[in-house]
Amino acid sequence: MVKIEDILDPISVKNFFQNYWQKKHLVIRRNKFKNLFDFNMLDKYLNRYPYVKSLQILDYDDNDTRWCLDKHKKLKQPMLKKNEVYDLWRKGKSFVIPFAEYEHKPLVDICFELEKYFANGQANIYASPKAGSKSFPPHKDSTENFLFHTEGRVKWTLYKDFDNKEVLDEFYLEAGDLLYIPIGMWHKVDAPGPRILISIHFANKKDQSLKKFNISSPKDSKRRRWYNWLPEIPKPKKKAPQRLMNKPRWSKPYFTKKI
Ligand SMILES: [Fe+2]
Repeated sequence: MVKIEDILDPISVKNFFQNYWQKKHLVIRRNKFKNLFDFNMLDKYLNRYPYVKSLQILDYDDNDTRWCLDKHKKLKQPMLKKNEVYDLWRKGKSFVIPFAEYEHKPLVDICFELEKYFANGQANIYASPKAGSKSFPPHKDSTENFLFHTEGRVKWTLYKDFDNKEVLDEFYLEAGDLLYIPIGMWHKVDAPGPRILISIHFANKKDQSLKKFNISSPKDSKRRRWYNWLPEIPKPKKKAPQRLMNKPRWSKPYFTKKI
């Protein structure tokens, strides 16, 4: 199981909650958690289409519309065929896979661990195939966001305010880096090339504060568990060591002749 110390490494848990949580963004440049979801996993995942719940395609009509597999009827969007989805990917459209935490055990492990400190979380995967793929326009989220970069580079722009006039910070992050942005911080993402970024985000626990900080036990978690479905192979019974009956041990000394 992953520990929060490892998730925030090299920033200490105390430092994070005292100085960054709900206050300011935190950039951790390092080389960790790149295996959470990579392009090989995306290739397998998208080949399951249409059995890919909640898949979204950004700007699918070149008109900034988001196509949603689960809501396309309600939104009066066409049902896309697999080859059409593939063509959109090759054209450069960004894909979103919401509720992705059960796609890979390490994602669920991070949710279980951070849900000791936060309320219910969720993992969304953002993938872009090439330079210039469109992402979301500047916006803010109503969750505490932990952004794990697993493939390629991403340009981040953080704004001071809702009018997005004043840039608070601007930087590129690489695979293996982590970014934390607190609730309500305006931000924008640009992909200068192929990339995968995973947002694991959480609401805060009710009445959570530094003065009265509540850390819950995973035992009390209502999250669906990750089970090990591997068949249980019965262990072979241990046999008592057999003595080789007709072969006495060292019946003769090593040296028969005196030297
Ligand atoms: Fe966001």
